[in-house]
Amino acid sequence: MKRIDFHAHVLPGADHGSKDLQVSLKQLQGAKNVGVDTIVATPHYYGWKQDLSEFRKSRKETWELLQPEAEALGIQVIPAAEVTLYQELPELPSLTELTIPNTSYLLLEMPMESWGNWVYTAIEKIISVHKILPIIVHVDRYPEKEVEKLLDWNLVYQINVEAFQSIWKRRKFVQWVQQERVQLIGSDVHGDDGKDYVAFDKALKLIGKSEDLLMRNARRIIEGKEI
Ligand SMILES: [Fe+2]
Repeated sequence: MKRIDFHAHVLPGADHGSKDLQVSLKQLQGAKNVGVDTIVATPHYYGWKQDLSEFRKSRKETWELLQPEAEALGIQVIPAAEVTLYQELPELPSLTELTIPNTSYLLLEMPMESWGNWVYTAIEKIISVHKILPIIVHVDRYPEKEVEKLLDWNLVYQINVEAFQSIWKRRKFVQWVQQERVQLIGSDVHGDDGKDYVAFDKALKLIGKSEDLLMRNARRIIEGKEI
């Protein structure tokens, strides 16, 4: 089965993930080398300081720049966004413009510091007011006690390959995948040293048979289906 990377900063110049087309091409080559044929591109969107229409314009331009090169490599790049949660995010009227194209799924980044109750209120509003299905990105990166609570919400959760590099913690993360507590995996690739996709490959080898499950989930989400 071909591999899908569900979190990647590969659009040239869209954010700090890739400064130009040359960097993006190295990233894509790294992806191809380990059998990735679909990349969900997730440039950062910080709603409190970025205009949404400007973000969409820049994403479109950078995606169009990369698209022919990606196609030549046999890679589909899907223009999405990594949307950072803040208290007023649910008030954005056009939040659905940030979902993965033709789906109701939105990649949502939680605050890195300890969370207040507002986090849960905001997620509830995003679901009920906007009819959005949040995907919580890189669940391995938040304070442990907050994540344990959030995992009980039955949302969709994405884990970074970085999680599987820690000898101490990777057993727990492999279990999360096996127990289907997390459903998606992403490289969160930044820069062009190629290490992120080597790590992607290593993480999937560690996960073993459950890779199929992760990839099937990813495929269904891209197609706008429930998992
Ligand atoms: Fe990211």
